[in-house]
Amino acid sequence: MINPSLSALARRTGDSPISDLMARALACPDLISLAAGFVDNDTLPRERTHAAVATILKHPTEGNRALQYGTTRGDTSLRRILAELVAPSQNWSGDQIEALADRIIVTNGSQQLLYLVAESLLDPGDIVLVESPTYFVFLGLLQSRGARVIGVDIDEGGMRLDVLEQRLAEQEAAGQLDRVKLIYTITEHSNPSGLSLDADRRPALVRIAQEWSRSHRIYILEDAAYRGLHYEGPEPPTLWSHDHAGTTVIHARTFSKTFSPGLKVGFGILPTELLGPILALKGNHDFGSAHFSQQLMERVLKDGAYTAHVSGLRQIYRRKRDVLLDALAEHFAPWRGEVEWTHPQGGLYVWLTLPPDLDTGRDSAYFARCLEEGVLYVPGAYCFAGEPVAPPSHHARLTFGVTSPEGLREGVRRMAQALAQVRKTSGPILTPRLEVTAPTRT
Ligand SMILES: Cc1ncc(COP(=O)(O)O)c(C=O)c1O
Repeated sequence: MINPSLSALARRTGDSPISDLMARALACPDLISLAAGFVDNDTLPRERTHAAVATILKHPTEGNRALQYGTTRGDTSLRRILAELVAPSQNWSGDQIEALADRIIVTNGSQQLLYLVAESLLDPGDIVLVESPTYFVFLGLLQSRGARVIGVDIDEGGMRLDVLEQRLAEQEAAGQLDRVKLIYTITEHSNPSGLSLDADRRPALVRIAQEWSRSHRIYILEDAAYRGLHYEGPEPPTLWSHDHAGTTVIHARTFSKTFSPGLKVGFGILPTELLGPILALKGNHDFGSAHFSQQLMERVLKDGAYTAHVSGLRQIYRRKRDVLLDALAEHFAPWRGEVEWTHPQGGLYVWLTLPPDLDTGRDSAYFARCLEEGVLYVPGAYCFAGEPVAPPSHHARLTFGVTSPEGLREGVRRMAQALAQVRKTSGPILTPRLEVTAPTRT
């Protein structure tokens, strides 16, 4: 029974759909998890962090500062370093960097910024346009705020801008354009698709949001959580760098993926108009993110430990991505042409598309079979908005973040084995081809 004392917001807020999946993974050590979006344990920067902590605590002033409260907006010196890190050009003047640092807010992971943005912009019934598929945790957050969420198709180049304009036109025709508040896009190596927004779509996306901002501003939330984890050369300029007036794009970043999720340091660049409201809300949340973590990030950014760490991560994850892609090519070869997957240039995820008649949902025969085989994935249906069409249920999100290369190979083998089993028992609609080709990454 629902507790009648709960607020409407609490009643709208459910458990994360995958908390149960994660609990299963933890409870069963033999289960290979291709589901958990964790970073690789062996890469965690223990020594670099230890050295930074020792340096901070050795100096009484620095140590006391780190152990004291900070400000709601975040440490001034850290924000200046962050401005230098994200400045679109090395030639920016000191004044430009200062102005950018003034628009930066340090948050408790980027998740807090996503929450603050939703809290500051959305009333129940307001509309958010998201990629199909998108980050399911953000979908949960939007549901909790009571927002209406509408999907926009993607292709290899990320969000399809023709479909975005179509969705905006549909809302205009329905007299709902004034409820459209936000466009959410994961610009790099998306969770869950692994795909990025093409360079030439970036300025166009900013232009579209500005052109459709008629009675009020439609903001873009650029979630760049995986920026920096690139394995085939650097990413194109950010969306916010195309927002020359600084009015439209909210840029969300985190050090969770590129350094340590345990520190939970994120940050954002905000349009000036949103700075006051979001700081006021953050004041209510926590009046400032953990100061110790901020000082620690400041130190590793200053002394080069961060840059060295990220470059090591790229080597490790590139290799793991290749292992996962090779394993998919090898083990799903019997279903070539009917099972597809993305080939991410960075990040931690691969998006697997199984035959349309194969249900991958949590209550499906395939999911149950995978558990019996000892492998876990995230059912793709969690990653879609409920509109304009019902979520497809034949996808799976796989990650190569946390599992060892051997585990990745074996996990994929088990998923393919489960597919063969399910096809056998349900009367195969597909006939697996017998020839097995050499692994490729095409
Ligand atoms: C796309 C995306 N955005 C935001 C986050 C939030 O991460 P954090 O709060 O640790 O910065 C995650 C975490 O997995 C993510 O995948």
